[in-house]
Amino acid sequence: MSGDVLNHAFRLASRPVGLPTRDNWQFTEQPVGEPGDGEALVRVLDISLDPAMRGWMNDARSYIPPVAIGEVMRAFAVGRVIGSRHPDLKVGDHVSGLLGVQEYAVVDRRGLNKLDPALAPLPVYLNALGMPGMTAYFGLFDVGRPEPGQTVVVSGAAGAVGSLVGQLAKLKGARVVGIAGGPEKCRYLLDDLDFDAAIDYKAQDLGRALRTCCPDGIDVYFDNVGGEILNAALARLARHARVVICGAVSQYNAREGISGPANYMSLLVNRASMTGFMVMDYGSRFAEAGQEIAGWLARGEIKTQEDIVTGLDTFPETLLRLFSGEHNGKLILRVAED
Ligand SMILES: NC(=O)c1ccc[n+]([C@@H]2O[C@H](COP(=O)([O-])OP(=O)(O)OC[C@H]3O[C@@H](n4cnc5c(N)ncnc54)[C@H](OP(=O)(O)O)[C@@H]3O)[C@@H](O)[C@H]2O)c1
Repeated sequence: MSGDVLNHAFRLASRPVGLPTRDNWQFTEQPVGEPGDGEALVRVLDISLDPAMRGWMNDARSYIPPVAIGEVMRAFAVGRVIGSRHPDLKVGDHVSGLLGVQEYAVVDRRGLNKLDPALAPLPVYLNALGMPGMTAYFGLFDVGRPEPGQTVVVSGAAGAVGSLVGQLAKLKGARVVGIAGGPEKCRYLLDDLDFDAAIDYKAQDLGRALRTCCPDGIDVYFDNVGGEILNAALARLARHARVVICGAVSQYNAREGISGPANYMSLLVNRASMTGFMVMDYGSRFAEAGQEIAGWLARGEIKTQEDIVTGLDTFPETLLRLFSGEHNGKLILRVAED
């Protein structure tokens, strides 16, 4: 590829306190790199914006090293191969991987998955056929283990993971209650995704609503948000309930440490368990889950929703929608058309 082509990228300039601002980013322009042996040059098309990215900006011990100052911001993305020095990848192939918040990425073949755009549109590979799908599938089935007739409550229910958790729980014959912010998201859960009940945590008294919607208690609570919502759900557990700690998006921008659940003694009283869950631990089974999810999608048994915002330059502001809830379903940043 000609050295005249420039790559634009967002690099971490400083570590945010609270919500990230544009000042925490450096927008750089550099010549596109050449792939070495075993590598491919990828044109980035769609970037997945994930709440976890906020954690990767902190200089803290976690399940993955923080993004270094000056490094291109880490992000999952899909793209098209435009140069290859690996026999498995040819120009025109579609791939996903940690391509970063940029226009072009040089990536080792081992960090790329080949995609079939004939099977599903590319954004779906960042949603039900990507990390949110794997997270919902393994978090719900391996950790939550709902049984037919049991009550499953999911927070962040209109988001990427939560909307899939609810639909998969319905497929297993559970009663599903979703917690989301605002009447339109609650309407979506009830009318489009067929949830049994929806609670608007911004407008309703959560404790009272959970009592009404879960008269026999909560058998599985799939937590995406933490904070007060987790605390309210703990107060309503059924005997032998399973609480899946998937994420705590309400706490990711906390300035003074995160607040923990005061109602944890409910675990003791109800002989319940609360388990932290990490989707990467299930990497060897992603293909199995992907096949099953693809079948449900093809038969129209589950739906996905992608909220696509166009323009790499909007990244700092678009990222913030994850924390304000100003997005519907999976938030994606479109960098280029295929
Ligand atoms: N453990 C793992 O391996 C793993 C893997 C992937 C994702 N995750 C976690 O899973 C969770 C969901 O991720 P996602 O990709 O589904 O994100 P998402 O699509 O952005 O959905 C998250 C939802 O959380 C809600 N939310 C945001 N701030 C909130 C607050 N302060 N209080 C209550 N709700 C709030 C938003 O909707 P409202 O408008 O309803 O507020 C949003 O739709 C995140 O915590 C993420 O970190 C974990």
